[in-house]
Amino acid sequence: MMIRITRIATTIAMLLIVIGICLTGAQDTSAADRDKLLSEPGVYGTFATFRIDDEWRRLDRQTRQAHLTALRNVVEHHKDTLAIDTYLLQGLSDYADILVRVHSTELRANQQFLLDVIATPFGAYLTSATILNGLTKKANYVPGFPDQMKADLKVPSESGLYVAVIPIRKDAGWWALPQDQRLAMMQEHTEAALPYHKTVKRKLYHSTGLDDFDFITYFETAKPDDLHSLILALSKVKEARHNKRFGHPTLLGTIKTIDQLVEALGR
Ligand code: HEM
Repeated sequence: MMIRITRIATTIAMLLIVIGICLTGAQDTSAADRDKLLSEPGVYGTFATFRIDDEWRRLDRQTRQAHLTALRNVVEHHKDTLAIDTYLLQGLSDYADILVRVHSTELRANQQFLLDVIATPFGAYLTSATILNGLTKKANYVPGFPDQMKADLKVPSESGLYVAVIPIRKDAGWWALPQDQRLAMMQEHTEAALPYHKTVKRKLYHSTGLDDFDFITYFETAKPDDLHSLILALSKVKEARHNKRFGHPTLLGTIKTIDQLVEALGR
């Protein structure tokens, strides 16, 4: 009897959330320009990872499905104003089970989305594992590179099934170096990395003061072995000696649309 009442209450709560989302969603007029948010400077990227409590897996299938539907509705609701990407870390990373990457020009919009996720019935079973915040900026060093290197960097990179997120903290010595010395080291960094430019798609976020790191480096690839070789190649250049913290966490997972994520978790 008690279980039935709880189920009815959960269903009513879910219906209210869905109705609320539909009503507020109707007020959105502008659709987020996903391409712009993912390519322009001045955009905030928030990376949030969550662990799913074991208790959730013990819930019946119907309740879990209802929880995942509410999660999907929150993503759908915010899709008009934010660029939202979802990933499954479960099985490849022991830091967390899922990763969400959110982009907007207002950091508080990223926060509101994550608060809305936490407010769903599924959110009650999520534990936040890591939150990283970064800002996209215009290239600092590329304008000083030789023309051939600039041209090589313009060749499009290919994405793939896999994602890796590696936050990096530089040492004080790095920031104290004059720009021309950092430029020379970043040129060496780029020379070492260019052989992997085609198969490893990258994105850089500046996070000094926005979390405990200086940079969030983000990669998509079909070839994790290339990512591995790339990191080894970069660890040999002088700039790498200024990495005070590299990873911790290194997040590795697979890229999933929200529908694919819901399907994977609902199994
Ligand atoms: C696909 C291969 C890669 C290429 C072609 C590449 C290229 C570059 C370029 C051109 C810059 C300078 C951006 C600017 O002008 O501001 C840069 C910056 C940076 N890269 Fe890479 N990179 C690659 C992979 C990596 C990897 C694997 C890491 C570490 C996990 C990394 C870490 C960084 C960091 C932390 C910066 C910022 C340095 C600073 O502004 O002080 N990169 N990269």
